[in-house]
Amino acid sequence: MVELNINGRSHKLDVEPETPLLWVLRDVVGLTGTKYGCGVAQCGSCSVHINGEVMRSCVLPASFAAGKRVVTIEGLSRDGSHPVQKAWAQHDVPQCGYCQSGQIMAAAALLRKKPKPTDADIEEAMTNICRCGTYQRIRAAIHTAAGSRKDGGSVIHIVDAAVPSSAVAAADHRDNAGA
Ligand code: FES
Ligand code: FES
Repeated sequence: MVELNINGRSHKLDVEPETPLLWVLRDVVGLTGTKYGCGVAQCGSCSVHINGEVMRSCVLPASFAAGKRVVTIEGLSRDGSHPVQKAWAQHDVPQCGYCQSGQIMAAAALLRKKPKPTDADIEEAMTNICRCGTYQRIRAAIHTAAGSRKDGGSVIHIVDAAVPSSAVAAADHRDNAGA
């Protein structure tokens, strides 16, 4: 049994503590916006926030997240209104879409630490792989998201909705593409 706080809700889950967090999120909790790519912490498609830090959930045991705040793409905003999500839509960033929830989570974490990142900051922080090569649009969208901030607060919004349908429209699209 592992108890996790995911997107603001507590879940008591009948899983082995060493089960990778990614599989708990996807297969047990049903949050399929977080993707499996490499399984060895290289691609970033499984990125989530744990206590505000972006981490790769494929290599983290579920027990690591116990007592911490886990935020997935579904919890970034209720309705796709997070500045990064809006910038992604504005720049039409995704191509196949598979990597994009991880990219968005990484970008949101970057902006939380560096509200006005330079190109060099983005290059250093955004190590997620995109096989479609959307890197230029990702960079442009991050700059747009940075410009959309109206105050000095965090751009991270943690909501208590479990699986807000409109917030995961993009993720669902990716699932339909074969996730
Ligand atoms: S699936 Fe986790 S980093 Fe690739
Ligand atoms: S959009 Fe296809 S892998 Fe990134």
